[in-house]
Amino acid sequence: MGQYAGIAGKVALVTGAASGIGRAIATLAAREGAAVVMMDVDGEGLAQAVADIRAEGGQAQLVIGDGSSPADCEKAVATAVEMFGGLHLLFPNAGVALMASVVDASVEDIGRTIDVNLKGVVLICKYAIPRMLTSGGGAIVTTGSEMAFAADPANPVYDATKAGVVMLTKSMALDLIKQGIRVNSVCPGVTNTRLLQREVETSPDPVAREAENNAWAPIGRVADPMEIAHPALFLASEGASFMVGSAVLVDGGFTSK
Ligand SMILES: NC(=O)c1ccc[n+]([C@@H]2O[C@H](COP(=O)([O-])OP(=O)(O)OC[C@H]3O[C@@H](n4cnc5c(N)ncnc54)[C@H](O)[C@@H]3O)[C@@H](O)[C@H]2O)c1
Repeated sequence: MGQYAGIAGKVALVTGAASGIGRAIATLAAREGAAVVMMDVDGEGLAQAVADIRAEGGQAQLVIGDGSSPADCEKAVATAVEMFGGLHLLFPNAGVALMASVVDASVEDIGRTIDVNLKGVVLICKYAIPRMLTSGGGAIVTTGSEMAFAADPANPVYDATKAGVVMLTKSMALDLIKQGIRVNSVCPGVTNTRLLQREVETSPDPVAREAENNAWAPIGRVADPMEIAHPALFLASEGASFMVGSAVLVDGGFTSK
């Protein structure tokens, strides 16, 4: 018996599942008894993540694909149906960082950030929702960010994509609740993932940057990815049955300052 009612026996699809928060969500969903389809552009990382879940006795299937590609999103949804017979839980989580002002960011990086972080969430939902409806309904939990609520001047394009994800979540939530799909967003604060490590490594002073990350939130440290996965799984579970269009901040107190 898992911690989160209504997850066991369900089929879940997680994007950006090779690393960080997505990998933690997929791992926890499998531990709770869901069959998990894991999509990522990073084939090597994905193979390792799937192998680790299977080694624990979980059910997992990889789909190497780009979350901003309509064909790859369709393929991920089709894989869930072919391998596991349906789709109930969707975690659109793939995302990339862009630490640059709108002036300094390259046109390519601006396009890629919007494509992966916002268009990708729309696309995976576009193809998943009809399958979720024919599977009897379920839940979608998007990965937003504290930056959807508190602007960081260092990440304007990223912040805008995450604010977009939160409003997309709310709008889809209203549209889908009468059809049996609850939609909510988990909004992490600074979390110790590859995305964060890359930001530290590429900063002019990595040691100072790491200290800054730890001092960012009142809790005095960054989150472990599992500390985001647990609230995400709760939002997908029966315990969250009255939660519709919520954007749940998991930020160590940052936005309460
Ligand atoms: N780490 C943080 O501090 C933090 C804070 C708030 C929100 N988030 C959000 O959490 C989500 C997960 O990020 P993370 O921190 O775990 O980073 P991560 O880099 O560890 O994981 C992101 C995963 O997404 C994959 N990915 C990137 N582009 C993709 C694409 N086009 N198609 C499919 N997969 C793709 C990467 O290969 C990687 O495996 C992102 O949406 C991110 O914006 C992270």
